[in-house]
Amino acid sequence: MIFYFSGTGNSLYAAKTIARHTGEELISISTAESTGATCHEYTLKDNELVGFVHPIHSWGPPKIVLDFIEKLKLNNYLGNYVFSIVTCGGSIGNTMKVMNDCLRKKDIHLNSGFSIKMPNNFIIMGDVDSKEVQNKKLAEAEGTLKYINHVIERRITGEFKVDKGTLPWLLTGIINPMFNKKAIDTTKFYVNNQCTGCGTCEKVCNCNNIQVDGKPQWGPRCTLCLACVHYCPAKAIQYGKGTEKKGRYTNPNISINEITRELAERAESNLNNFFTSCK
Ligand SMILES: Cc1cc2nc3c(=O)[nH]c(=O)nc-3n(C[C@H](O)[C@H](O)[C@H](O)COP(=O)(O)O)c2cc1C
Repeated sequence: MIFYFSGTGNSLYAAKTIARHTGEELISISTAESTGATCHEYTLKDNELVGFVHPIHSWGPPKIVLDFIEKLKLNNYLGNYVFSIVTCGGSIGNTMKVMNDCLRKKDIHLNSGFSIKMPNNFIIMGDVDSKEVQNKKLAEAEGTLKYINHVIERRITGEFKVDKGTLPWLLTGIINPMFNKKAIDTTKFYVNNQCTGCGTCEKVCNCNNIQVDGKPQWGPRCTLCLACVHYCPAKAIQYGKGTEKKGRYTNPNISINEITRELAERAESNLNNFFTSCK
């Protein structure tokens, strides 16, 4: 069972690659969270793998991932092998420790953890990588994914291969909480006059937070995954002052249909699971 969250497809691609190799089922964290359920209950098969795959957001896991784990109930968890994969543009600070602490609170033991460098999608401060760097990162990610499959297949425990960057305690301990408190402000989203009102942003939003009525409108729920910004076919969506001139990126191996198909499933599960709570 592989739980994933992804804004622009990198983490979905990583999760899919592992799932294809291990035969594990993929479960979308944003779909589960958008149901409003207060408990996410799953029953594991004997020896089933448990994985968490998501991007890094300011040197910490996106809040939606931690919220999901807090509500997670794994029936038949008998020390099953658990791994964490974090995709990043560069480094992940002490995120593995955050994941470990969060899972431990649920009596789930993290056996292995990995970071994978993939093309950067954080254009609020920096910019997307050059095409050359994107291709290099994507090619190298294949090798990392092969290695991760090797570790997982053999259920190797205590293997943590992550790029923490410099001063990880500062990145995760100080900058990440500031980011979570201050950086996400949906009033900063707007569209320029290239917006055609096509509705793609509404379909790719991980938080069911966008309504298109002629033009998109953002509600308060947002985890700043930037899916709306990057998938907009007209490059019309901006966040604050700095994104107009920046590039856009979506993982070339993940089709927009794959991302938007989820929306239909999400709407369906919303109806079925509204306010489910663990017994
Ligand atoms: C809000 C936000 C914050 C980010 N912070 C970091 C970071 O601290 N370090 C880093 O290496 N990459 C950072 N990135 C880049 C993404 O983690 C990276 O591009 C990731 O692979 C995107 O995965 P996805 O396509 O599954 O969303 C950030 C991206 C976003 C949207």
